[in-house]
Amino acid sequence: MFRYFSLLLAFGCVIHPSHGTEVMVKDKDDKLCLYANLMVNFSVSYEAADNKSNTVQFELPANVMSDGSTCEETSSTLLLNFGAGHSWSVKFTANGNVYQADSITFTYNLSDSTIFPKSVSNETVSVTVRPHITDVGMDTCYSCNSKETIQAESVNQTLWNMLIQAFVSNGTQSKNLTTCAADLPTPAPTTHNATTVAPVTNVTTPAPPPTTTPTPTMPTPSTGKYSIKPDDNSTACLLANFGLRIGVKQGEKYEEINLDPNRTTVSGSCGGNSSELVLVSNTMTITLAFTNDTKKFRLQEMNVTATLSSGAAFSEGNSSLSLWEASVGSSYMCNKEQNYTITSQLSVFTFDLQVQPFGVKKGLFSTAEECQMDSENFLVPVAVGVALLVLILIVLLAYFIGRKRNMASGYESF
Ligand SMILES: *[C@@H]1O[C@H](CO)[C@@H](O)[C@H](O)[C@H]1NC(C)=O
Ligand SMILES: *[C@@H]1O[C@H](CO)[C@@H](O)[C@H](O)[C@H]1NC(C)=O
Ligand SMILES: *[C@@H]1O[C@H](CO)[C@@H](O)[C@H](O)[C@H]1NC(C)=O
Ligand SMILES: *[C@@H]1O[C@H](CO)[C@@H](O)[C@H](O)[C@H]1NC(C)=O
Ligand SMILES: *[C@@H]1O[C@H](CO)[C@@H](O)[C@H](O)[C@H]1NC(C)=O
Ligand SMILES: *[C@@H]1O[C@H](CO)[C@@H](O)[C@H](O)[C@H]1NC(C)=O
Ligand SMILES: *[C@@H]1O[C@H](CO)[C@@H](O)[C@H](O)[C@H]1NC(C)=O
Ligand SMILES: *[C@@H]1O[C@H](CO)[C@@H](O)[C@H](O)[C@H]1NC(C)=O
Ligand SMILES: *[C@@H]1O[C@H](CO)[C@@H](O)[C@H](O)[C@H]1NC(C)=O
Ligand SMILES: *[C@@H]1O[C@H](CO)[C@@H](O)[C@H](O)[C@H]1NC(C)=O
Ligand SMILES: *[C@@H]1O[C@H](CO)[C@@H](O)[C@H](O)[C@H]1NC(C)=O
Ligand SMILES: *[C@@H]1O[C@H](CO)[C@@H](O)[C@H](O)[C@H]1NC(C)=O
Repeated sequence: MFRYFSLLLAFGCVIHPSHGTEVMVKDKDDKLCLYANLMVNFSVSYEAADNKSNTVQFELPANVMSDGSTCEETSSTLLLNFGAGHSWSVKFTANGNVYQADSITFTYNLSDSTIFPKSVSNETVSVTVRPHITDVGMDTCYSCNSKETIQAESVNQTLWNMLIQAFVSNGTQSKNLTTCAADLPTPAPTTHNATTVAPVTNVTTPAPPPTTTPTPTMPTPSTGKYSIKPDDNSTACLLANFGLRIGVKQGEKYEEINLDPNRTTVSGSCGGNSSELVLVSNTMTITLAFTNDTKKFRLQEMNVTATLSSGAAFSEGNSSLSLWEASVGSSYMCNKEQNYTITSQLSVFTFDLQVQPFGVKKGLFSTAEECQMDSENFLVPVAVGVALLVLILIVLLAYFIGRKRNMASGYESF
């Protein structure tokens, strides 16, 4: 019995009781960099001949190709190709001492008549959704046996028996697990030093968010899920999920306030060319106006009124914004923290953002268009260049000052 336990302990992430899809991705040095063992069920509805809507169910096969998967320092992609042009991919990003899955994209080929018999369309369709795989400790394996179903416009995906480790270091899988909340016996462990529940492996509670921002005093705002219905009977016509914080500058003072979704009431309207979302909380009122210019939608106007800690009222707005732009019929998604300058006195920060102000079908988000993450990749070399330039200037300046001083005091410099 003892041997059995110690054997499992020694293998940690590697041994898994399920017969799911197992993939090992190697980096350019041929070292393991991403490990996944999981099960996925798809339920897809599509238009079939004789004007009927068909729904089919199928599993992610055990036999997949992971050729297109990539591992970088802070981002990696698990790309699984299977069957006749179908694929399932997960994007991971690392941030300090945690990593998370940002999005799952499922692409299916409706011309594959073995899966989609009598399909009217022969197109390849993609849906992007956001899984709840967050705050996974670096160098730990994410483990979740419970089922998570993620709904999108015409696809439901059920994930379970998951064991995933992204950003594997030194080619060796971790023996430690980050277990999903659904698997833990109590939904919210209150102490971080809780004794390990499972006898076999170490269970780490999700690590606290990384402290990369210079002002870590304010907690991340909770993510609110807001929706607008045209009338009581129908499904939502506008969907918006985000955590939101405002930063207000008043003279020398700067203050940040989080929007508390639990104390926020939602109202607004949907139209063909403009939609509006109004959020009223105990501390602030935010009005967001979206426009549709036939192909694209964007956030055009934002008004914020707030009560500051001093008791003073604050009101700022901008009606010529062009933010959160995506194609009409899809949604806009940005998981990373964003910082938008609305006016000289008002900044707005968003977290885990996904919005769709037009063309919502069945009350669910459509395929997401993700925000550009390139901007920071572009900024880093620029910042390094500027820093180098400044350094050169300082060295030159020091040289000339030194030279001048030497000459003034009568010494000859060489
Ligand atoms: C997805 O699940 C919802 C809720 O269970 C159900 O109403 C819907 O029909 C499902 N869609 C598909 C494509 O299976
Ligand atoms: C079935 O589809 C055809 C063409 O797509 C259409 O002309 C017809 O009206 C439809 N029939 C019904 C009963 O919806
Ligand atoms: C997954 O799909 C298979 C076949 O479609 C089905 O037998 C099984 O019950 C499904 N499992 C879950 C958890 O939905
Ligand atoms: C989609 O499926 C059809 C039929 O199986 C196949 O001919 C086609 O190459 C597939 N498309 C892609 C992009 O693989
Ligand atoms: C898809 O269907 C359209 C019309 O039904 C046809 O013109 C087109 O060639 C088909 N494309 C493929 C790749 O089969
Ligand atoms: C597992 O976690 C323990 C305690 O958190 C830590 O001391 C140990 O180094 C971790 N082991 C690995 C392989 O990460
Ligand atoms: C489990 O954690 C303890 C201390 O927290 C550590 O001594 C032990 O090595 C860990 N076990 C594994 C398998 O990492
Ligand atoms: C709302 O639903 C009720 C019962 O389902 C129906 O009788 C009524 O016509 C609906 N009203 C609207 C405006 O759709
Ligand atoms: C908001 O309410 C939910 C459920 O009512 C609760 O779980 C959560 O902790 C609350 N969040 C805050 C920030 O109060
Ligand atoms: C967007 O605007 C165009 C042109 O005004 C209109 O045809 C279209 O229906 C609108 N889209 C939605 C989803 O309302
Ligand atoms: C924002 O505030 C301005 C000035 O008070 C007002 O004209 C505008 O209608 C407001 N916009 C929204 C979307 O409420
Ligand atoms: C947000 O952006 C503004 C302007 O770019 C900048 O001054 C401020 O420091 C940023 N705040 C944070 C917390 O990043």
